[in-house]
Amino acid sequence: MYLGIDIGTSAVKIVITDDKGIQQSTASQPLSISRPHPGYSEQDPHMWWQATNEAVLALKQQDPALLGKVKAIGLSGQMHGLVALDKDDKVLRPAILWNDTRCAAEAERLDKTTPAFRSIGGNAVMPGFTAPKAEWMRHHEADLFAQIETVLLPKDYIRLRMSGEKVAEMSDAAGTLWLDVAARRWSPALLAACGLDMHQMPRLVEGSEISATLADAIARNWGMNKGVIIAGGGGDNAAAAIGLGVIHPEDGFVSLGTSGVVFMVTDKFAPAAQSGAHAFCHALPSLWHQMGVILAASDCVSWLVETTERDITTLMQEMEQTDPLDTLPLFHPYLSGERTPHNDAGASAAFIGLRRGDGVGDMTRAVLQGVAFAIGDAVDVLKSAYGAPTRLLATGGGAQNTLWLHYIASVTGCPIDVPEGADIGAALGAARLAMLADGHDLQTVCQKPPVARTIMPEKSWAEPLSEGQLRWKAAYQALAPLIRP
Ligand code: XUL
Repeated sequence: MYLGIDIGTSAVKIVITDDKGIQQSTASQPLSISRPHPGYSEQDPHMWWQATNEAVLALKQQDPALLGKVKAIGLSGQMHGLVALDKDDKVLRPAILWNDTRCAAEAERLDKTTPAFRSIGGNAVMPGFTAPKAEWMRHHEADLFAQIETVLLPKDYIRLRMSGEKVAEMSDAAGTLWLDVAARRWSPALLAACGLDMHQMPRLVEGSEISATLADAIARNWGMNKGVIIAGGGGDNAAAAIGLGVIHPEDGFVSLGTSGVVFMVTDKFAPAAQSGAHAFCHALPSLWHQMGVILAASDCVSWLVETTERDITTLMQEMEQTDPLDTLPLFHPYLSGERTPHNDAGASAAFIGLRRGDGVGDMTRAVLQGVAFAIGDAVDVLKSAYGAPTRLLATGGGAQNTLWLHYIASVTGCPIDVPEGADIGAALGAARLAMLADGHDLQTVCQKPPVARTIMPEKSWAEPLSEGQLRWKAAYQALAPLIRP
């Protein structure tokens, strides 16, 4: 048996698989976010550890024998979060999360003054990444910053609690922007740009390598044997890719979670920072990936549900009464600013072109189309950076919405495969990385899931949507300077 633990933003999710990688049992524990000021997003790392324990102990209660059979554990987690520890490994402040934009000014400054972030780190410095968060701490919390002995990412903090070892792996480490992404090692120059050095960084392994061993006391509490190994694991997107069998160059997926991601595996480090593409390591040796990240995908639908006080089924039914190819109103989905392609934490969302006859159904259609256009932007960015994926697996809650996938397939020109069964998450990928660390064969473990259906681009949709997308882009260029908060 293998255990995958995913430290998400809204929940800790755990999965147990058998020795063939088939899911046997799952559990999850919700997490809350604290937003003390506009743009802030924080979590207490102790809450992650407590939720992890509660999830594992819930599984133990369901089936006490199961955990006793676990041979290895894999970790995945929300990327980029800054966990700052002092000399006694105490957390110095709540973790500053990936969706916290307080450091926009620091990000802009680092990007201008240190071009090596783009060339060596492979990315424009965006407020989501770890480096500008540390830079914010250096300038706004100098006393705390001076006490930093170690910087960890969220899942690596859980590894520390599980094993006493400070270890990171390449896919998540790349998202700090302190990694020399081509050479797969920390970059002293990039760390120095933020007033940090190598001694403050954890040891690095590949995602599929052994990183540490579960501490005896924790193994006892969790009902596990002594000596269970912990794999390096992966950042949540890289781990989700492993779960989906996205392991060969040009394999890709589109994720419609809170945020939206277009992910493609590459066989080399191919940065294209000016386009807003992310170039990170994959969780497997000698592989990298390109990503386009939009900050609000399903979150736009959640926002509409909250704002209109309708449930999602009602929204979709109202939308079905409208013409699917009407491209007015238009919707810019930048509720939380945007990364790809705009790299603009201050971008805001908008409905444009509302008419007297339009209702909530038309607004819902505009939201789905607007996110599809933004996914189209992300695919275009990958095209210019390395080559676009020619086929995408769909994942995340939004992947259940067939009309949405029709829009995305028709906007991007990519057929979209929808896997059978429940949504495959990063926790399954983490369990698979545990299997690899325990010596299982890559090609056998990392199979693609069976496909329930393929959504093909609709020729008759491509033209009206592309015309709508052109107006959507032009409207953003015109409006962006006028509607900044
Ligand atoms: C990726 C990113 C998000 C988080 C969310 O760059 O910021 O996908 O990893 O979990």
